[in-house]
Amino acid sequence: MFSAHTCWTMRALLGASFLAMVLGMLERVMAFDLTRNDNLAVYWGQDGAGNQQRLSYYCKDSTIDTIPLAFLYIFRGTGGEPVVDFANTCNQWDDPVYSGTALANCSFLAQDIKTCQAAGKIVTLSLGGGTGQVGFSSDSQAQSFADQIWNLFLGGKGSIRPFGDAILDGIDLDIESGTAAHYAAFVNRIRSNAGLTGLTASTFAEARANATAHVNATSHHTTASKDSKPVADVTTASKYYYITSAPQCPYPDAYIGGALNAAHFDAVYVQFYNNYCGLDQPSDYNFATWDNWAKTVSSNKAVKVYIGAPGSADAAGEGYVGVSTLANYVSDAQKKWSSFGGVMLWDADTAYTNGRFDKGIKTDMVTSGAKFAPKQALRNGMTHTTTKTPTTKTQSAEDAASSTPVEKPRAESRFFRL
Ligand SMILES: *[C@@H]1O[C@H](CO)[C@@H](O)[C@H](O)[C@H]1NC(C)=O
Ligand SMILES: *[C@@H]1O[C@H](CO)[C@@H](O)[C@H](O)[C@H]1NC(C)=O
Ligand SMILES: *[C@@H]1O[C@H](CO)[C@@H](O)[C@H](O)[C@H]1NC(C)=O
Repeated sequence: MFSAHTCWTMRALLGASFLAMVLGMLERVMAFDLTRNDNLAVYWGQDGAGNQQRLSYYCKDSTIDTIPLAFLYIFRGTGGEPVVDFANTCNQWDDPVYSGTALANCSFLAQDIKTCQAAGKIVTLSLGGGTGQVGFSSDSQAQSFADQIWNLFLGGKGSIRPFGDAILDGIDLDIESGTAAHYAAFVNRIRSNAGLTGLTASTFAEARANATAHVNATSHHTTASKDSKPVADVTTASKYYYITSAPQCPYPDAYIGGALNAAHFDAVYVQFYNNYCGLDQPSDYNFATWDNWAKTVSSNKAVKVYIGAPGSADAAGEGYVGVSTLANYVSDAQKKWSSFGGVMLWDADTAYTNGRFDKGIKTDMVTSGAKFAPKQALRNGMTHTTTKTPTTKTQSAEDAASSTPVEKPRAESRFFRL
């Protein structure tokens, strides 16, 4: 009786811990890994197919790894604050703005951003777009703007936080207008605010591990501070902040080319569409040029290069190819170029509406990627479940009653029809 009970208890305990282990595995979400060759970055925010859903809708499965929010399209708007536009989801015309500015309060998206981050994805803010009113007249202006962006959206603090208490994972520069100068100063200042000067995504992880190991090793000593070995100072960096850009495929890019050579970028999402060197022009397709830039010219020799592609035939003027053609470009790149990091799609709405183009290319990319980099296979087999249900955006009666503007200018991009 007693032993049977003990036995039952042990079985129950074993069963419970086994269950906990299995659940832990199921719920374990792999964090974004920049070093892989099968990442999928998908822009969200411009309602490409007229059916854009809330952000969290696109984070319900493990297809997308990175979401740049498009766009912050005016650098210096009313009251000195920038202006964002996420089409039907949040904009200065339909949503409340911060007093004396044209900057929309999109803080209802905080939970969506955190849901995506909890699923292991990174969410960044894309600056520019096809109709951007952007640019700097001096390095110091670029640096002040970097501080402003840091305080509005990243690790800084301020009275205005357009995404509430969410902290974005970095900045994307899709500069397609204005002047080219001073972007390196902007990037350098963001990275120094983040405590990342001199660090890459890989050495940051290493420095954090070293710092943790150091703390563990010295925590048993009373003379810890005396015999402590110097470790990289990552005290100001609570997490890694990514800097990316979306140059056009003609090399070098007219607007961001200079900064790409002078400052540290983690990845470039090259737009292989709307140009002579697009995916629809195999003889002029120039990934090799970008691979060479990454390894011999770029400030960060470990920079990742993505193949940027339209999510549907309507997502770009030209350059759309189907999933199987794109998958051929991908496996070719995985085989030939160590700089290859994955695929970028413009945009989430067109890809979803086009029979889940995103899922199609991700599946093929993961399959071929595992062939050329077997170490990656582990993550590929894992899935995660999202348990959070997206909440519905509700507008107050006051908002609804506020004057409705006749015109609603949208930030569009050369991404979307040249
Ligand atoms: C921004 O909107 C949220 C609700 O979505 C509200 O709680 C907050 O007070 C607003 N912030 C400002 C400064 O108006
Ligand atoms: C981490 O520690 C190892 C061993 O001490 C060292 O070689 C390496 O440079 C350190 N990395 C960083 C980023 O501090
Ligand atoms: C340091 O200790 C913490 C807590 O005990 C542990 O979670 C972590 O894995 C340790 N880190 C290293 C590098 O040993």
